[in-house]
Amino acid sequence: MSLLLNKSTFGNSANIGNVLSKADANNLLEEWVINPKLQLHMRQVAHLMKSWAAEKENADEKIQWKWEMAGLLHDADWDQWPELHCKKIIEELENRNIDPEIIRAIASHGPAHFGVEPETKMDKMLYAFDELSGLIHAYSLMRPNSYNAMDIKGVKKRLKEKSFAANVSREEINDACSKASISLDDLIDFIIQHQAEVE
Ligand SMILES: [Fe+2]
Repeated sequence: MSLLLNKSTFGNSANIGNVLSKADANNLLEEWVINPKLQLHMRQVAHLMKSWAAEKENADEKIQWKWEMAGLLHDADWDQWPELHCKKIIEELENRNIDPEIIRAIASHGPAHFGVEPETKMDKMLYAFDELSGLIHAYSLMRPNSYNAMDIKGVKKRLKEKSFAANVSREEINDACSKASISLDDLIDFIIQHQAEVE
């Protein structure tokens, strides 16, 4: 099954600035994603994206919502249409005349799968948060105190254990860090600091 998108431009530049309302984005998430674990993952990644935009990119609220929306909807089609993963949500957002930067970030969140390289900082951070967020969530579930006192060292230990969250690609995490020009330690630290805020 190939998920390659075989295209490199997404949406229409005339639609820059067009976003879904928060209510519409949440409705789409809830209609398309049945699995509560996947919904939580998407909300966690959305929160990380918004927090990063606000704290590290000095983005205003409008731009923060673009980052958040990309995170919130990046896996929207994975639950019910895995063979159309990424294609279906891209089509939906193109049909709704959504900002091409949001669509592009979603299209490039797994370059090894979709064949689209992350280019902007928003693209790169979505790629970087996606896999590592899942591993850190899995780690929080096995700790008696969840995220409390979780440290970078503990996460790195889990990363080295190949059998832990075995479906999380360590290679992609390293690739994403180098593309986003951030250290693995900083990425882990940011996720530990923010992910517990989403329930
Ligand atoms: Fe994801």
